[in-house]
Amino acid sequence: METPATLDIHPDNAIVWRDDALYLLDQRALPSETRFVVCNSAADTAKAIKDMVVRGAPAIGVTAAYGVLLAARERFRADAGDWRRGLAEDLDLLAASRPTAVNLFWALERMRRLIADLDQLDPVPALLSEAERIHVEDIAANRAMGDLGAALMDNGPTDIITHCNAGALATGGYGTALGVVRSAHAAGKIRRVYADETRPWLQGSRLTAWELKQSGIPVTVQADNVAASLMARGEIGWVIVGSDRIAANGDVCNKIGTYALAVLARHHGVRFMVAAPTTTIDLSVASGADIPIEERAADEVLACAGVRMGPDGVDAHNPVFDVTPAALVDCIVTERGVVEQPDAEKIRRLMAGA
Ligand code: MRU
Repeated sequence: METPATLDIHPDNAIVWRDDALYLLDQRALPSETRFVVCNSAADTAKAIKDMVVRGAPAIGVTAAYGVLLAARERFRADAGDWRRGLAEDLDLLAASRPTAVNLFWALERMRRLIADLDQLDPVPALLSEAERIHVEDIAANRAMGDLGAALMDNGPTDIITHCNAGALATGGYGTALGVVRSAHAAGKIRRVYADETRPWLQGSRLTAWELKQSGIPVTVQADNVAASLMARGEIGWVIVGSDRIAANGDVCNKIGTYALAVLARHHGVRFMVAAPTTTIDLSVASGADIPIEERAADEVLACAGVRMGPDGVDAHNPVFDVTPAALVDCIVTERGVVEQPDAEKIRRLMAGA
């Protein structure tokens, strides 16, 4: 691990290609410590994704694209005449790093298609350009979603709730849900963001609060179970979240606890917005029931900040995503447009309009 003095510590600068290596701002340590993890191989990159040095669906996709570049460079250095040999195993290693965020598989497939078309001897320049293109396109998509999402917020300056971290850290930069928050706050439409702390990994209190503070947006952290009574007070206009995978029928998979928020929002007449690029939409899964839900270690639940809380010898249930049925979603904001009251036909039309 190292942090070159020349790297800015900023949420928009969490994935950096510098000096022929990939630098990832270590999200396990934020906000108390700011350091980068350096990746020089596919194995380094897969480990960084698996261990959640980098997390959030679009950020995982961007990182994996750089991981493919690192894999091809290693293979080329080992055998310039036959650099494709063994590369499929490197891509499989990257694909096995996390199961739910579909942007990972989307990015690997895009890099794989480019590799199939390459005929020049050294693959590195073309793969670096493609990884950088994926990175830049993700930021542009987030900015477009920011504008579209903010334009939907026509119910006056309001407080909002967000869950987990769908910000710059979770993407190539700017953020999906927090991109909408940044644009809407700049337009005077958001007074305050309530950030669910997001047990057990605390993406909300550690990452979202840090990001929003850096952007000068008023933020209040709350325990996840406060949302119902907060909504009952009538001051929340929107719940705004990101997604790790959206099924063909508009069901939305996101951080565990999102479904509960959507149920609460419907009960209290609060609107529920999902901001996600089209790279998060997976037409190959008919509904949310077909999305693989990652289970992580019981220790993440039984401990807090490394301190054991639960008794030894008990089990813990740690599914890290859930599925919100499309019927509870008021709008899905993508870079290609907004889908209100999503269903299979509207999602099909959005994707066909590419
Ligand atoms: O387990 P994580 O931290 O990778 O889960 C991330 C989330 O659920 C995010 O909210 C989601 O990926 C949207 S990211 C823009």
